Amino acid sequence: MIRVRGLRKHFGDAHILKGIDFEVPPRTVLGIIGASGSGKSTLLRCLNGLETIDGGTIECDDVRLEAGISHADYRKRVRALRLKVGTVFQHFYLFPHLSVLGNIVEAPVHVLRTPRKTAETEAYELLESVGLRVAARRYPGSLSGGEQQRVAIARALAMHPALLLLDEPTSALDPRRINSLRALLRTFVDRGHTMIIISHSMGFLGGVADHILFLDAGLVVEHGPAEQVLNSPQDQRTKEFLEQGGVD
Ligand SMILES: Nc1ncnc2c1ncn2[C@@H]1O[C@H](COP(=O)(O)OP(=O)(O)OP(=O)(O)O)[C@@H](O)[C@H]1O
Ligand SMILES: [Mg+2]
Repeated sequence: MIRVRGLRKHFGDAHILKGIDFEVPPRTVLGIIGASGSGKSTLLRCLNGLETIDGGTIECDDVRLEAGISHADYRKRVRALRLKVGTVFQHFYLFPHLSVLGNIVEAPVHVLRTPRKTAETEAYELLESVGLRVAARRYPGSLSGGEQQRVAIARALAMHPALLLLDEPTSALDPRRINSLRALLRTFVDRGHTMIIISHSMGFLGGVADHILFLDAGLVVEHGPAEQVLNSPQDQRTKEFLEQGGVD
């Protein structure tokens, strides 16, 4: 579960997030849509503690991040938040000097102090579920974009995040891969994960998201069931965005 209240973020005079409110119930997927520059990635970076928030609160299970608390307290809470939130970035950022297996066990071993053998056993299970068990000993540089992405998903899930964030996960994928990614993500939702996915592909989101939030110039303009927002948006700005080809 994640609950965001009154979230604000500015860079100097540029107010990027102007008071964002939403909640994502457990075991559901929230899709975030919006024009380029509307603040989607900034929002995601606030949710995983990569950006400091200037106003409001972010609550994820028992961790509560809020603007205006002491620097030391904020940093402590960000560390706790990062244990709850996994992120798959647009460009994956796998460690090039580590094998696929090494990429997946790195954080569980060094952050959670999971015994290496236990972490490896689980890594093989995750690789199996993303169809890449055979690639365990290979290095990221030898993998295709779609394969690297699946490793990045397995790596994020290895930390058992309460919440998984994905920023533009379909950008490197062909239509067949997009279909299999959608099915893969749904299996992880069925196993209990909660997700937020930013995407410019309405076709993809229509098949994977339970709810959709439309962000426009740093404000939530519309937020509702995916089917309703995508097929019969209420706000004129959402209508225009979808008509202008927020399409595949
Ligand atoms: N560190 C920063 N310093 C100054 N401005 C920033 C910074 N990070 C983001 N911005 C600005 O904030 C605005 C929102 O950026 P953001 O990356 O969140 O957009 P987005 O909705 O993810 O767009 P896209 O669909 O193109 O990925 C942009 O105008 C961007 O230039
Ligand atoms: Mg972005």
